[in-house]
Amino acid sequence: MTETAHWWKKSVIYQIYPRSFCDSNGDGVGDIPGIISRLDYLKALGIDVIWLSPIFRSPQDDNGYDVSDYRDIDLLFGTLEDVRELFAQAKRRGIKIMLDMVLNHTSDEHPWFLEARQSRDNPKHDWYIWRDGVPGTPPTDMISTFGGSAWQWVPECGQYYLHQFSVKQPDLNWKNPEVRHALYDMINWWTEQGAGGYRFDAIESIAKIPEAGIVEEGPMLHEYVKELSAATLQGKNLVTVGEAWSANIERAKRWSNPDGSELSMVFQFQHIIQDEIPGGNKWDRRPLYLPELKKVIGAWQRGLRGCGWNSLFWENHDLPRIVSRWGNDKEYRETSAKMLATLLFGLQGTPYIYQGQELGMTNTDYPLSDYRDIELCNMAKERLAAGWPEKTVMELIHAKGRDNARTPMQWSNARNAGFTSGEPWLRVNPNYVQINVENEEKQPDSVLNYYKKLISLRRENDVFFDGDYTAISEEREDIFAYRRENGRSVLTVAANFTGRPVLIPELEYHTRGDLLICNYPTAEVCDQLRPYEARMYLATAQTE
Ligand code: GLC
Repeated sequence: MTETAHWWKKSVIYQIYPRSFCDSNGDGVGDIPGIISRLDYLKALGIDVIWLSPIFRSPQDDNGYDVSDYRDIDLLFGTLEDVRELFAQAKRRGIKIMLDMVLNHTSDEHPWFLEARQSRDNPKHDWYIWRDGVPGTPPTDMISTFGGSAWQWVPECGQYYLHQFSVKQPDLNWKNPEVRHALYDMINWWTEQGAGGYRFDAIESIAKIPEAGIVEEGPMLHEYVKELSAATLQGKNLVTVGEAWSANIERAKRWSNPDGSELSMVFQFQHIIQDEIPGGNKWDRRPLYLPELKKVIGAWQRGLRGCGWNSLFWENHDLPRIVSRWGNDKEYRETSAKMLATLLFGLQGTPYIYQGQELGMTNTDYPLSDYRDIELCNMAKERLAAGWPEKTVMELIHAKGRDNARTPMQWSNARNAGFTSGEPWLRVNPNYVQINVENEEKQPDSVLNYYKKLISLRRENDVFFDGDYTAISEEREDIFAYRRENGRSVLTVAANFTGRPVLIPELEYHTRGDLLICNYPTAEVCDQLRPYEARMYLATAQTE
């Protein structure tokens, strides 16, 4: 593979959650024309690729992750014509569009499933995963990610179908080659329409064996991914990423093998679940222990070097806002948002920015009735029914609920943050009055302008791309610092993860070079980092 085939290694990817990005027609839901109207904003930010969460026809049970027609656009978001226009307008600005492909399941309203559920003899029946049984006794005790049994009884067939996610998201049967080829044809069709890449949703689950309790990483998984890659991706200059909660470094080497046999990179979560109790689920929280986080990030940096590629991220549409999670969204909101950005952008891999992260958008503290997410609402219903105190349930939601990241994008301090002229589908975070694009564009030291600077810095020196990673004082509980070296330059990144000043004599022991960027406006204090201070230095080797 040539280096140009790996163009995405030097890219920055921006994730758009279409229903919350920009509404052009006043129905309260973001849409494609809204995205087109903001392309100049994204161009000015400096990103190269947009990952678009699903825009396909969908009953919207899981906000589009339940697709009923992969080849058409949901009316909420616009038309196929709008998407063609988006591709063209983005291309004009040198931006590629990565579509979110949900291949593990469809909607129960997809014509394939409507047929499949008619009878056992229907030609589409085997396209989904069915098991015999009797009503009231599901074939296995597998639990759906969104609560309750993962099996649903269909009287017409006298069988259960499997749904790893909601009951409206039946799992496709990847064992059936017809299913696989129908999906490949559909992807190729999108590539012909002008898609620049794909994010593969829940791709680790396509080879599940329910009876063996295997959901992720089934034995046939990488065979299927290789087949998918050969049939749809190879030789087309696309950027691809697979969502894989189960990925470890060894598995990630397969997912992101530089020979291009699978995907460009994998979206793995080991770093971001460091504040969750191992073996539990996302609601089982524990305090973050910084040395452990650094160890995990360091291991991935070293582990994939030369034999895979990292996705760098703090946020997406399923995760809380990072400034509320690991920063301080009160008095140090801007400083800590910038600190976290600095740490991420210094690493090796392709950085992802989730919409609003570049503004330092925060979590919400709404009452339950203001939330919409199926996962969050089901969890609250189950736990309240089981007698959990309301206060505890609300604390969990405010910390981890997916709607924290899904509130409308904050464009200005006009009504509804300039997101819609109508009633937004999800309440706008009231802090939009201060935190919004218009304000941040005007303030030279805003979080937004800091992100712009980080993005352009990455383009200026190859050390960001190929520098070797070495941790500095990995055992310290207060700072996160590391070096990247490529024989020509040394990049040093140091950040204070706390709200108090800390001494950092370590910085004295390394050739620091010039200060590239810092999240405080006034000059640095040599061996001390102010609360949440972050700095990047670049030293360049003398040329002989
Ligand atoms: C992925 C998506 C999530 C969705 C789920 C089911 O995890 O990121 O938003 O609910 O898959 O498609």
